[in-house]
Amino acid sequence: MTSVSNSGPVSSVPSPSSAIVPVALGDRAYDIHIGPTILAEAGTLIKSVLARPQVIVITDETVARLHLETLTESLRKAGVKQETIILPPGESTKSLERLSRLLDDIFDIGIERSSTLVALGGGVIGDLVGFVAAIALRGIDFIQIPTTLLAQVDSSVGGKTGINVPAGKNLVGAFHQPRLVLADISVLDTLSRRELRAGYAEVVKYGAIDDFAFFQWLETHGADLMAGDTAARIAAVETSCRAKARIVAEDEREEADRRALLNFGHTFAHALESATGFGSRLLHGEAVSIGMVMAFDLSARLGLCEGQDAARFTRHLAELGLPTGPNSVPGVVWSASDLVARMASDKKVKNGRLTFVLARGIGQSFVTQDVAVEDLTAILNEAIAA
Ligand code: NAD
Ligand code: GLY
Repeated sequence: MTSVSNSGPVSSVPSPSSAIVPVALGDRAYDIHIGPTILAEAGTLIKSVLARPQVIVITDETVARLHLETLTESLRKAGVKQETIILPPGESTKSLERLSRLLDDIFDIGIERSSTLVALGGGVIGDLVGFVAAIALRGIDFIQIPTTLLAQVDSSVGGKTGINVPAGKNLVGAFHQPRLVLADISVLDTLSRRELRAGYAEVVKYGAIDDFAFFQWLETHGADLMAGDTAARIAAVETSCRAKARIVAEDEREEADRRALLNFGHTFAHALESATGFGSRLLHGEAVSIGMVMAFDLSARLGLCEGQDAARFTRHLAELGLPTGPNSVPGVVWSASDLVARMASDKKVKNGRLTFVLARGIGQSFVTQDVAVEDLTAILNEAIAA
């Protein structure tokens, strides 16, 4: 059974064997295909959106070794000509140097306005390739084939593309929507436990934002998802994509405090990542996990939500093996004032004020610039001392 829907928050989580989630953005609308054999079917799906039957596939070394052949074979069967560029894995690939070299490479291959890039990989490849597609020839088409849980539920959907620069993470980028997103659940089988857990943080985020029923479902089924249950994975990816598609359709460019809800935990997370050098010491999803706990703790401190909600949310993350405090990162001497300073240089600062997503309960988040530095510093100090 395939389900197609992107209406409001879920009251019950679906259990289809595959799903198509539309992203309703007018002339930039596209579909997200989710299922266990999507990579093998990719050739036909991709061909249906191409102006001419050729693509440049860009991936990283790890994903190339594991999954490129399936895609290549599928494109060959569909009669789509393919060039391939393979980049080193890791966050450092989202850099100006790599961007520059990648632009050289695609111009060497030869592109025109009707060309299409295919991003096969996690959020690093998706963000970089999306940005290249946004700026090459002032914008060409690209297709996302996300291969991490984080990329399937978050980064491949919604058109945020970009790279990191020395001044900070994702500070250079563009909104550029993909033409198609293909999420093959079976590729998650080769992902490390740590990367899978990090992606799970972004899944739980959708429960925190506005879907308490999904959070409850995750309390029951999150462990199945982590253990490799295909139905649980499809249901969680579909529900997450449906939530993201809805929010993006409402506020594509983050202008109305709606899309900003997707940054739940991220003001903290980006500061934690910045302090640890945006590397493998603390993965993005791990930082989001700690950041969401801090957002709940701050909400409880400000009397916005019950302490028991914060505790329940934190307990679920901990049960699934996610970090819930900064001290889970070995070898870092944390400083609250340093973290606050890092937050102040984030792109989420508005009129000189820090922006936070806080919670009135699980599934009841809202955006605010109204947080006193004293309260922020207090919860950071508590987390550091824990
Ligand atoms: P990633 O792309 O670095 O992938 C993590 C690691 O997993 C890499 O080493 C990669 O080679 C490997 N990998 C990928 N797929 C695999 C598979 N199927 N099997 C085995 N190994 C695999 O990291 P990520 O967590 O996917 O993405 C993080 C990036 O996404 C960050 O740069 C973050 O800023 C960005 N992001 C962007 C958005 C957005 O809206 N654009 C949202 C969230 C995060
Ligand atoms: N990951 C946040 C967003 O897409 O807006």
